Order: sequence, then C-alpha cells, then structure tokens
Amino acid sequence: MKKLIFSIPAPLFDIFVIEFNGYGIEILNRDESEVNFAIYVQDEEYEGIKEAINEIFEELGGGSLILEEEIKEENWEEKWKENFKPVSAPPFIIIPEWEVYEDKDYIPIKLKIGMAFGTGLHPTTQIALSLIPECVKEGKKVLDVGTGSGVLAIASAKLGADVYAVDVQEEAVKECSENAWENEVSIKCEKKSVHQVEDRFDTVIANLQMDIFREHFDKIVQLFKDCLIITGIYGEKERDEITNMAHKHRLHVKKEIFKKDINKDGENWYGFIFEHQ
Ligand SMILES: C[S@@+](CC[C@H](N)C(=O)[O-])C[C@H]1O[C@@H](n2cnc3c(N)ncnc32)[C@H](O)[C@@H]1O
Repeated sequence: MKKLIFSIPAPLFDIFVIEFNGYGIEILNRDESEVNFAIYVQDEEYEGIKEAINEIFEELGGGSLILEEEIKEENWEEKWKENFKPVSAPPFIIIPEWEVYEDKDYIPIKLKIGMAFGTGLHPTTQIALSLIPECVKEGKKVLDVGTGSGVLAIASAKLGADVYAVDVQEEAVKECSENAWENEVSIKCEKKSVHQVEDRFDTVIANLQMDIFREHFDKIVQLFKDCLIITGIYGEKERDEITNMAHKHRLHVKKEIFKKDINKDGENWYGFIFEHQ
C-alpha cells in the first residue's frame, strides 16, 4: 500500500473533492492558499488512481504530487479511523460504521469508508440532510439521484420512506447497498443515469453539479410530484441559473438555504425545495 501526498491551491480543493468523488482523503494541512492532502492506495490501484488525479489536476489547472511512500496496511486502517469522526447534520448524525451511537438526540446514519461521494463532510450533503425532514414522510416514495455512499437515501429510509437510489457509478451503487444493510434499512440501489428513470415519486432529492442539472433538469422535474430537493449549487451565478430553470418549469421556491464555504472563495452553497405551482 502507498501513501500519496498532494498539494493543490485552496480554491480548487473542494472542486477536486467532488470530481474525485470523495475517495478517502486525509487533509494534512490547509491554509488560505494551499491544501496538502494524502490518499492511501492499494498497489494494484496505484497507476489508475494517479492517472485519474493528474487528469483532474490538468482540468482544474492546478495541483501536484509532492511525495509518495510505502506504508503498512494496518496503519492505513488506523489512520482512517482517526480521521473519520461523527458529523452532525441535524436531525441526523453520520457515524463511522465501527462506532456505537447511544445518544437519542439524533438519527444515526452509519457509513463505511468508501470511494463514493457522501461522507457527510461536504456542505451540500449537509444542506440536503437538513431539507429532507420537510419533504420526506413515512410511506412516501422518494428518489435519490446521484446517491454516492447512499447517505441521503438512508436518511430518507430512516424517516420511513420507500426509497429508490440511482447513480452512474458502479462503486456508488455497491456502497449504497452495503451502507443500507449496515443501517438496517431497505433501499433499492441501481446503476442508472437519471434520464433512464421511469415512474414518479413524491419527493426527488438531487445533490449534483450544475453541469448535470443543465443536462438533466427537464427530466428531474418530470419525476417529482410534491417536493424537489436540489443542492450542489455553488455561488450566486449558479443560484440564478437554477432558479431561472425552475421558473421556466413553473416551479415555486418553497425554501432556500445556503451555507458559506469557508475553504473556497467564500461563496455560498445553495439548497432548495421546489414544488409545482
Ligand atoms: C455530489 S455527489 C452526491 C452524493 C450524495 N448523494 C451526497 O449527497 O453526499 C453526486 C453523485 O451523482 C452521481 N451522478 C452524476 N451524474 C449522474 C446522473 N446523470 N445520474 C445519476 N447519478 C449521477 C455521481 O456519480 C455522484 O456519486
């Protein structure tokens, strides 16, 4: 197993994390100008992952590998455990699978360490988790578009919904199923792009990037009856774009919230609940 250490300009770090789909990243040092982070890779994944990271760096216009070292596998597990702490996103708390949670104040969501996006650390996941209780009720049909680790699907299932989760990535579908099992909820997780989904749902949840909304928003709108939770919108420009798109589809903003991104260039991440007019 190898530990690879990278450096990336701070404003690019969050975009990198999204592009890299949340694959286990350990932040070593972070200041206003730069983030240094490490990833741990199995020897057989080494070339592929290094290549994938370089492609993202090229696309973003910054970032480089600064050190690589051989490490013992058991250290890797321990390192991860040190770094993966509970994250509260009321009314939920995300806890690593090995932790026992006894406090009754929050609804626990257990997650395995995985490659799919959705450790609960990202502001967009937290925004979606805070909006879910307003839309998701017992017995309602919910679609989670771009489920990643399955975190939002599990939150919905824990509130008693009947949940269908899709993602274009094989790894995400596997993790969604494993995490659902770990949380003792039943979720149908499938490898599918949103444009292939048929049926209609009481609530649709989509934490995606703006370019995916540009391509699939028309379809997403057709899939929901009562509530559409949208997040993954960064900055005022994207906010205006998504609200204009919603307006064209005669959607009404039931709720809008935002969270400041302290690590990027200080803009906000936005989340919405839309309903049909
Ligand atoms: C930002 S992550 C969100 C993960 C998780 N739902 C969360 O909130 O933390 C977006 C996910 O959408 C998936 N995705 C991208 N395009 C998609 C599409 N056309 N249909 C379904 N999923 C898609 C990606 O693979 C990724 O796992």
